[in-house]
Amino acid sequence: MIRKIFKWAGVLLLTLIVGVSIITATRQHVKYDAPYPAIQASKDSSIIARGKQIVYGPAHCVECHNAGNVDSLLLANADIPLSGGRKFGLPVGDIYSKNITPDTSTGIGKYTDGEIARALRYGVHPDGTAVFDFMPFHNISDEDLTAVISYLRAQKPVHNQVPAHNPNLLGKMVIAFLVKPVGPSEVIKKSVKRDTSAEYGKYLVANVANCSGCHTKRSISGEYTGEWLAGGTPIVKEGYPALTPPDITGDSSSRIFRWSQNDFVSRFHDGKRIPFSEMPWNSFKNMSDNDLKAIYNYLKTVQPLKSSQDAPLAKE
Ligand code: HEC
Ligand code: HEC
Repeated sequence: MIRKIFKWAGVLLLTLIVGVSIITATRQHVKYDAPYPAIQASKDSSIIARGKQIVYGPAHCVECHNAGNVDSLLLANADIPLSGGRKFGLPVGDIYSKNITPDTSTGIGKYTDGEIARALRYGVHPDGTAVFDFMPFHNISDEDLTAVISYLRAQKPVHNQVPAHNPNLLGKMVIAFLVKPVGPSEVIKKSVKRDTSAEYGKYLVANVANCSGCHTKRSISGEYTGEWLAGGTPIVKEGYPALTPPDITGDSSSRIFRWSQNDFVSRFHDGKRIPFSEMPWNSFKNMSDNDLKAIYNYLKTVQPLKSSQDAPLAKE
C-alpha cells in the first residue's frame, strides 16, 4: 500500500515537473500588445543636442549600452558608441544590453520611431516580447522621448552583434511566469518644465535617472518592496564587496540629511569616489546644476513611513 502511494506520488511529481517544464518552454517568447506612441524623430540640431545631453547625462544610457570601460572613457571625454553588449550576470542568468546605434542589421536601424518609443514607454520589443525592466523611462515626457530618439537616429551606425540572452532555469521560469511589459504609471506629459522645483526633481529621480531603482529595495523581478528611496538592495560587482545604496530621503537617518544643496551639487561634480561603485557618477557629472538642485529639493520632501512594519509601502 505504502509503496503504491510512493509510486503514484512519484508519477504525479514527474507529471508536474514535465508539465511546468513544457509550459516554461512554450512561454519564452510570449507576445504582447501595446500602442505605438506618436513620437517622430527630429533632425533639428538643438533637439538632437538635448537628446545627447539626456543620453550621456541623467538617463546614463551609455553606462549600460556599451561593453567597454565606460568610466575611463567618460573621464577621458571620449566618444562612446551605444553599441551594446554589456553583460549583466544576474541570479537569473546572463542578460545583454542591445546595440541601439542605427546599424540596420545589428542595431535599431530597421525599427520605426514608434517601435523604439514603444519599447521604452510600454516595455514591448518590436517583435512583441516583453522588455526586461532595466530602464525607468515609462513616464518620460513626449518632448524628452522625442529628443532621445532624435539623438539615437543621428548617431553613427556601429555594426555589433550582441549575444542573445542566456537565462538559466530560474531565469526561464521568471521569463515564463513573472516578466511582463511595464508601462506608464501616470498620464504622460507633453513636456516638463526644467526648473529647480521638487516636481521636476521627482520626474528626474523616478523617470529618467532611476535613483529610485537602486535606492529602494526591490524584489528579484523588480517590484519595489521597500520604502521609497530609503535605501536599496546591496549591489555586488564580481570580485568586490557589496555596496548598499544608502537612504537618500529627507529623513534624519538619510545619508544626505546634513548636506546643504551646495554640498549635494558639489558631491556630484566630484564624481565617483569608490571605483567599483555601480552608481553612474560619471554620467551624472554631465547633469546641469539646475537638474541637481531640483533633485535635492525633491529628495528633501520625501519622508519614509518607517514606524510600523505593516505600514503601506510609500510608492510615489
Ligand atoms: C541600467 C541599464 C540600462 C540603461 C541605463 C539603459 N538601458 Fe536600454 N536596455 C538595457 C538592457 C539590459 C536592454 C535589453 C532588455 C531586453 O532585451 O529585454 C535594453 C534595451 C533597450 C532597447 C530595446 C532594443 C530592442 O532591440 O528591442 C532600447 C531601444 C534601449 N534599451 C534604449 C535605451 C536608451 C535610449 C537609454 C537611455 C535613455 C537606455 N536604453 C538606458 C539596459 C539599459
Ligand atoms: C545603479 C545604481 C544606482 C543609481 C542609478 C543611483 N545610485 Fe546613488 N548610490 C548607489 C550606490 C551603490 C551607492 C554607494 C556607493 C557610492 O557611494 O558610490 C550610492 C551612493 C549615493 C549617495 C551617497 C554618496 C556619498 O558620497 O556618500 C548619494 C547622495 C546618491 N547615491 C544619490 C543618488 C541619486 C540622487 C541618484 C539619481 C540621480 C542615484 N544615487 C542613482 C547606487 C546607485
